[in-house]
Amino acid sequence: MYSEKVMDHFTNPRNMGELENPSGVGTVGNAKCGDIMRIYLDIDDNHVIRDCKFKTFGCGAAVATSSMATELVKGKTIKEALTVTNKAVMEALDGLPPVKVHCSLLAEEAIHAALWDYAKKNGIVIEGLKEPKQDIGEEEHEEEEY
Ligand code: FES
Repeated sequence: MYSEKVMDHFTNPRNMGELENPSGVGTVGNAKCGDIMRIYLDIDDNHVIRDCKFKTFGCGAAVATSSMATELVKGKTIKEALTVTNKAVMEALDGLPPVKVHCSLLAEEAIHAALWDYAKKNGIVIEGLKEPKQDIGEEEHEEEEY
């Protein structure tokens, strides 16, 4: 059911934990399954993500997608980090079962929420970044297949 990469990131998650004095923090949840994901970003003056950590209270797929998402955004600029969509995270993990697609959406939204928090704190506008949702509903996404 799960790829080797998913199992690897689930059993040996990268960047788990929290950052002291993060530049931005984003927390999102899915009311249906009750899972919650929080992402911490450390962003330097050149808008490069120096460090990234996560805390996820959720299923194995949510842990694996948080782990992979943090790996993908680390070292990237804010602009590049916006290209780390849930689809990109799933591809990097060699796919997820369709019923687990919403778990990867948590990762995308948590990154966006952390970037939103950073932008708000610094009084800047990040082009292409929309105000994040606090709750990731499954309704709009359950038809999608990957
Ligand atoms: Fe909800 Fe995976 S089951 S995040």
